[in-house]
Amino acid sequence: MWSSAREIAPGDLVIVWMTRDLVQPLVVTPGKEINNRFGFYRHDDLVGVPYGSKVGSRNGKGFIHVLRPTPELWTLALPHRTQILYLADIAFVTSWLNIKPGSKVIEAGTGSGSFSHSVTRTVGPTGHLWSYEFHEARATKAREEFSRHGMDATVTLTHRNVCKDGFTVSDVVDAVFLDLPAPWDAVDHAKKALRKDRVTRICCFSPCMEQVLRTVNALNDAGFTDITMYETLIRPQQVDAVPALTPISDVREKLKGMERRREDKRFRQIANSRAAVATAGKRKRTDDADADDDADAISAAGKRSRTEEGEEFKFSEGGAAPAQIVMREHELDAQPEEGARPVTTGVAPRISISKAFPEVRGHTSYLTFACLLPIMADGLAPVWEGRSQRCP
Ligand SMILES: C[S@@+](CC[C@H](N)C(=O)[O-])C[C@H]1O[C@@H](n2cnc3c(N)ncnc32)[C@H](O)[C@@H]1O
Repeated sequence: MWSSAREIAPGDLVIVWMTRDLVQPLVVTPGKEINNRFGFYRHDDLVGVPYGSKVGSRNGKGFIHVLRPTPELWTLALPHRTQILYLADIAFVTSWLNIKPGSKVIEAGTGSGSFSHSVTRTVGPTGHLWSYEFHEARATKAREEFSRHGMDATVTLTHRNVCKDGFTVSDVVDAVFLDLPAPWDAVDHAKKALRKDRVTRICCFSPCMEQVLRTVNALNDAGFTDITMYETLIRPQQVDAVPALTPISDVREKLKGMERRREDKRFRQIANSRAAVATAGKRKRTDDADADDDADAISAAGKRSRTEEGEEFKFSEGGAAPAQIVMREHELDAQPEEGARPVTTGVAPRISISKAFPEVRGHTSYLTFACLLPIMADGLAPVWEGRSQRCP
């Protein structure tokens, strides 16, 4: 469907991934520039770069990823002319309708072509998609897009009101997908288009329960079976690699070491101040001010030492150093021997954590599925191993 070359060439369509919420299509046109709030990028800089590369902005402050288009990325990046189908629904519909390479499929309406791109890739060159759209400008735009994306051989787009005029093929397709405001009006037409020599399937995509009820009635009246309704909801998860917590034995060792050093310092300060007083005595200093100086010095030394200890404690608690310390494997469970030192490596151990996004993307539409069973020579629907009126 799109360029399969390793490197980007002038005129290629690429998908520019700026952030998770900002994904844009771009036709690489030498001489042009694109901008975002982190800087600007010259299209010329993208030419010859392998697809999937990370490209820095001209001011060195930002970067983008330039990706090869896929139907999934196209759905995230396409220009919206209508509401579109997103990946969770597309995947579920494709699977339930049993769309696979070689399948012949109808969709109405075409809308922004999100579903069309996925189906075209799935059915491949041996299959076919008949797509219908009654809004003329949308039909023209979609036709241009399909052509640019190399889909002409696989997709036939017709400008028509399918509820009124039906489809252009009969007894041909394996599956019908209706994303219309009034799908019940197209159910009989869909039945005509579906082939009668095997089990075929239909799906109607409707946002309201009232539409679902009318569709279910129409499907029942037309003789469809196995009518089932689903709703898909997306629950995204954020997965991050974070530094592993420092083993508890390591923390205990560090605390003990700090305590030891603090004691040593105190003893040194007392000894120093005693020595200072003794020296002063020998010199027979009688000046009280000198004695005060000594007392100040002792107090200042004490303060300095406390500050140093405070800083050291702060560093141990929140600094980067703990993540750099890895205990030998046996030390992770066992008590460390007296005087044992942790092994320091340059690589911080990391673990993966997964967090559900607080917001779950809500309802888009209800998916009503049904099967049409083949008509046998005796004019009756077949019975599969006791499961009559069910899709096999
Ligand atoms: C929600 S959009 C379809 C979006 C599409 N499934 C996608 O993924 O991009 C519905 C489209 O159906 C078209 N439509 C509505 N009634 C129609 C009819 N009776 N015949 C053909 N197209 C119709 C509308 O013009 C609109 O473009």
